[in-house]
Amino acid sequence: MVTDLDKTQRFAEDFGLKTVRKAGSRLYMRTDGGDAYSYVAEQGDERRFIGLGFTVESEADLEEAVREHGGTPIVELDGPGGGRATTLTSPEGLKFELIYGIVEDQPKAPQPHLRLNAPGERSRFAAPQSERPAGPATLFRLGHVGLYAKDFAANAEWLQNVMGMKLSDALYAQSPDHAVVGFFRLDHGAEWVDHHTIFIGAMGMTGLHHLSFEVQDFEAQFRTHRYLQDKGWDPNWGVGRHPLGSHVFDVWFDPDRFRFETFSDTDLLNDEHETGLHAIKEQDMDCWSSDPPDRYFAP
Ligand SMILES: [Fe+2]
Repeated sequence: MVTDLDKTQRFAEDFGLKTVRKAGSRLYMRTDGGDAYSYVAEQGDERRFIGLGFTVESEADLEEAVREHGGTPIVELDGPGGGRATTLTSPEGLKFELIYGIVEDQPKAPQPHLRLNAPGERSRFAAPQSERPAGPATLFRLGHVGLYAKDFAANAEWLQNVMGMKLSDALYAQSPDHAVVGFFRLDHGAEWVDHHTIFIGAMGMTGLHHLSFEVQDFEAQFRTHRYLQDKGWDPNWGVGRHPLGSHVFDVWFDPDRFRFETFSDTDLLNDEHETGLHAIKEQDMDCWSSDPPDRYFAP
């Protein structure tokens, strides 16, 4: 829920999202990666995060969520692409919508990889660097969502036992058996998946920390950074590279101070990965600087 839907739309379009439908108080936006939509905003009196959605592989998954995990009765969705959904509620009241049968869009082809001339490795001869369009980023998908939580253990258990996720890395403050931050990935067995799809940080509140959208590479991120700067939007943190997950990040505030992040070059893991456990006080947040991450975590 946002306090000025038109202003949110202007920010999100500058960031790279495309408007699919805007009707009444509701705005649906998509990436260029083939999703029917991956961001929904609704005009309200206050800024508030309601929840997030996942597509599932079968109608049976929806039925199982209703039968075994307290999902709401299955409904037909009236958003772009339709589909059917049930909604689960997390331990702290966030909505996790599970969706089956949504009709997706045609994905836009990725841009050509940059051919880089580096010391000892020359690959681009008598040719200028390829042209990239200026302007908003080309976003390919919503890759992960960061959440604030009050109770790390309750949320971690729910994500693993109800949502079927795996804990890739965890950070602890006092003792290794009391994690306070976790990076959770999807469980697709031997298939390679992103290092994390959900990030949870126990910081005394419940809600959205950030939304993160994949772009082509870090040149695309630097271009987006400069473009958003020219447009007068408010930067939060980046461009930098996280040690856990390895991805390059760049974080911006939307008009309600929700964080929107671009990322590229994420680590991929599969079921051979064992959870990494790290002391939070020894864990850097950015490989490229010693910036204190306070402004990244402040509400
Ligand atoms: Fe992120």
